Amino acid sequence: MTTPDANTPIQPNRRDVLGYATTGAAAIGIACCAAPFVNSLKPRDSATAHLPVDVDITHLAPGQSMVASWQGMPVLITHRTPQMLAQLKQSQNLRDPNSDILQQPPYARNWHRSLTPQYGVLIGICTHLGCVPRAAESGYACPCHGSKFDAAGRVRTAMPAPYNLPVPPHSMPRPTLIRLGENPPGQHFDFSSIVQI
Ligand code: FES
Repeated sequence: MTTPDANTPIQPNRRDVLGYATTGAAAIGIACCAAPFVNSLKPRDSATAHLPVDVDITHLAPGQSMVASWQGMPVLITHRTPQMLAQLKQSQNLRDPNSDILQQPPYARNWHRSLTPQYGVLIGICTHLGCVPRAAESGYACPCHGSKFDAAGRVRTAMPAPYNLPVPPHSMPRPTLIRLGENPPGQHFDFSSIVQI
């Protein structure tokens, strides 16, 4: 299978078979600082494809981002600084500022769209045609047709992307570990219920 270029729009019906893992990681160049890589960026066989993925964030310093992989999709994880959080609280010109559209678990339907404000966890697939957004000033920008998202993955108004970036199910069994694909205890969320990936 050929690996798609991260800057090439991907048709929606191809999204579930993307070879995002390594390509997305190589192309995103997300970090304001060098991004520590996660060793989960490996193809997995069908028997393990739906298992949760643990991401060790011990060395993810404030202001850094990294790319993990979950179910073949790139996941952007950012350790937010107090300044980033302050900026996030003042985000404006957002299409869905209150996350009314089901693009995140209920426990991420908040101003930071994540389990805890300090860590952003977003699926790195643009909701327009599926390119991989890159880190940009005040959030993320899609290299294909210019959609811009704030640091919580909320799309700005008048952009081609119709929806906020999806938030995957995630939990934090301990402060230095993010578990992708598993909800926090007592929470129920089926990722297949989101409006669009
Ligand atoms: S794929 Fe078109 S703006 Fe992202």
